Amino acid sequence: MNAQTQVELPVGAVAWLPPQLSIIVPTFNERDNVALLYEKLAETFGSTPFEMIVVDDNSPDGTAAAVKALQRNHPNIRCLQRIGRRGLASACIEGISASAAPFFAVMDADHQHDEKILPAMLERAMAGDDIVVATRYAAGGSAGEGFSATRAAGSQLATRLSTLLTGANLSDPMSGFFLMRREVFDEVAPSLSDDGFKILLDILVSAMRYRKANGQALRIGEVPYEFRQRHAGDSKMSPLIVVQFLGLLLSKMTAGLLPTSFLLFALVGGTGLVVHLVTLTLANALFHPPFWISQTVAALVSMTSNFFLNNELTYADKKLRGLRLIVGLISFYAVCSFGLIANVSVANLVYGFDHQLYLAAIIGVIMSVVFNYAVTRVFTWR
Ligand code: GDD
Ligand code: MN
Repeated sequence: MNAQTQVELPVGAVAWLPPQLSIIVPTFNERDNVALLYEKLAETFGSTPFEMIVVDDNSPDGTAAAVKALQRNHPNIRCLQRIGRRGLASACIEGISASAAPFFAVMDADHQHDEKILPAMLERAMAGDDIVVATRYAAGGSAGEGFSATRAAGSQLATRLSTLLTGANLSDPMSGFFLMRREVFDEVAPSLSDDGFKILLDILVSAMRYRKANGQALRIGEVPYEFRQRHAGDSKMSPLIVVQFLGLLLSKMTAGLLPTSFLLFALVGGTGLVVHLVTLTLANALFHPPFWISQTVAALVSMTSNFFLNNELTYADKKLRGLRLIVGLISFYAVCSFGLIANVSVANLVYGFDHQLYLAAIIGVIMSVVFNYAVTRVFTWR
């Protein structure tokens, strides 16, 4: 460059200051919430440099476009737009990984989380807390207006379960609102589970384990706040997400040995058995067909229901649609048929040893679940 090159700064541009805090905001259909959220954050932080990183799963309502429109006027906003992907936990992980500030926070876009407590959370982290959880239950805080009665009860139950799991007595381990120093995240990032809704719980469990193994303590702080009503749009919480969450808890109880997707796959397999028996009984009662016909029909019906349940629940993040759904269904039938061969041959082998009927049957079933899981992950839900 020679000295004649002049760079003109846009009017109002100020010297860039590295952000102290990155605020990660996962979004799905939050178009009408993002601009106001940024305004509230900017007001809260004043001259403290922060950045807002929105991770949007290509929302049909155009959230990403709305964020990018803001980004043109504010250097401290970024949008990570993920195409063809879904999932709250993985969105948070990617947003956190894309930031470099010494501290980061995760919060919802819908204004349910009170941004005004962020400076207090940051202060605690700067004073040495590894993870600061914004909590809806501690004295002074409240689950108040933003929570339905069933949702509150479910949340309490989940809180107890996770206390069991983490061994830490936290008032709100299911919070979607927390702040932490980035090294703590870097320690555990490789062991986090990509699926699910409860990223904080996963981070807590993993960080506890990591620190324990290294003989260090984990300092967790809590800052109470009042959970508000959602501003615009709808919640993405659903019964499916609750079942997925139970799968995550179980998976963590096996120290991740059994992946959540395997547990969900096995659960769906269990429902398939019920569907099979019901279909068999109905077919027999209604049409009195030869056994092999009713057995074949029952197998087809249960494989089909298993396929759709897995597509919704186990693989919600890579859900097949359109033509890929049909191809997937056919490959699922094919894999399950091979799975049946695996089942019968292994069961037969075990039965040959000491003629334990039920033991042989159970091992055969486990064999086919493992086989179907492993192979459909390669051929059906890639
Ligand atoms: N990128 C992305 N992908 N974002 C998502 C997805 C997704 O698949 N699903 C939800 N989000 C975003 C929403 O747009 C919102 O900003 C935030 O994640 C939380 O989603 P809500 O649908 O508003 O969840 P909620 O209010 O029912 O649940 C909240 O409370 C739970 C505690 O009961 C969340 O804070 C949870 O994280 C929290 O555990
Ligand atoms: Mn919400």
